[in-house]
Amino acid sequence: MAKATATANANIALVKYWGKRDDALILPQNSSISMSCDGLSTTTTAEFSEKYRSDTIVINDEELKKDEKNILGHIERIRKLAGIQEKAKVVSESNFPVAAGLASSASGLAALTVAAAEAAGLSLHEKELGILARQGSGSASRSICEGFVEWHKGVMPDGSDSFAESIVRKNYWPEFRMIATIVSTEKKKTGSRAGMKQTVETCPFYGGWLRTVEDDLNIIRKGIRSRDFALVGSTAEANCLKMHALMMTTKPAILYWIPETVEVMHAVMAMREQGIEAYFTIDGGPQVKVMCLQKDEREITKRLLRLKGVQKTILCKPGDGAKLVNKHLF
Ligand code: PMV
Repeated sequence: MAKATATANANIALVKYWGKRDDALILPQNSSISMSCDGLSTTTTAEFSEKYRSDTIVINDEELKKDEKNILGHIERIRKLAGIQEKAKVVSESNFPVAAGLASSASGLAALTVAAAEAAGLSLHEKELGILARQGSGSASRSICEGFVEWHKGVMPDGSDSFAESIVRKNYWPEFRMIATIVSTEKKKTGSRAGMKQTVETCPFYGGWLRTVEDDLNIIRKGIRSRDFALVGSTAEANCLKMHALMMTTKPAILYWIPETVEVMHAVMAMREQGIEAYFTIDGGPQVKVMCLQKDEREITKRLLRLKGVQKTILCKPGDGAKLVNKHLF
């Protein structure tokens, strides 16, 4: 069987996903909306062959331990779907720090899905790839698609209508920018899988999240279509703060922010007071992503890099969906 290689971008959610209604199939409690980030990508090569005696996975030059059930389970899922027995070799490289809240699981699982499905001889469309990627990591379903993307929560118990699709392609709003600030490269303590489960089970405000998230989705969808930056930025920032309020009021509390996170948040708010249009969003980690328009990207980057806590910034534009490429990693 031929080897196959795919690249996929990370995606940053404007309306977040935090909580499942089915843990095994990874079905979310609410729909979510994100942007594919062209500066944060993962490339993965996969090959199934009789010459391999067990599955080997190498991520950023490090061999994965056998207890990494998530990725191994995903390879097994693809093997079953294709009806093959051969073991796999997978090599994956990301151009940004993994497991620090920069959506590495999304780009990683999306690239793995596209590469391994192709290598296993499956021929799947975008919707099917999204449904498959979703079962590896929920947000990975969004990394299959281009530009601004909605992951529909779906209502079917089998998950057949819980998939992602583009709202608009990357060229619809090419001026939109997401500046990822790196404030720490340490591995986070609470993974999203365990964290969101704790929130659904123990957070007293989860009902309030579910009651208001439909409004956020409608506003952001409309804001993207009309390219209304202030509407999208302000709604996305408020949605992020609402999600972190859930995390903090989960038992035991989940606090992803470190002092440097808060420093960037204040700086973004101060920029707004000075008339610079910038908004922030934060995921399951300490990094802050700053939303702005192309016209302000240089000034905002300069100001962010002046902050004590900011180690570096990565500029992202609306990017592609996951795709096959010709250059293999082994
Ligand atoms: O798909 P996961 O398990 O990596 O969870 C993603 C959760 C957040 O990044 C916090 C929110 C989101 O919608 O991306």
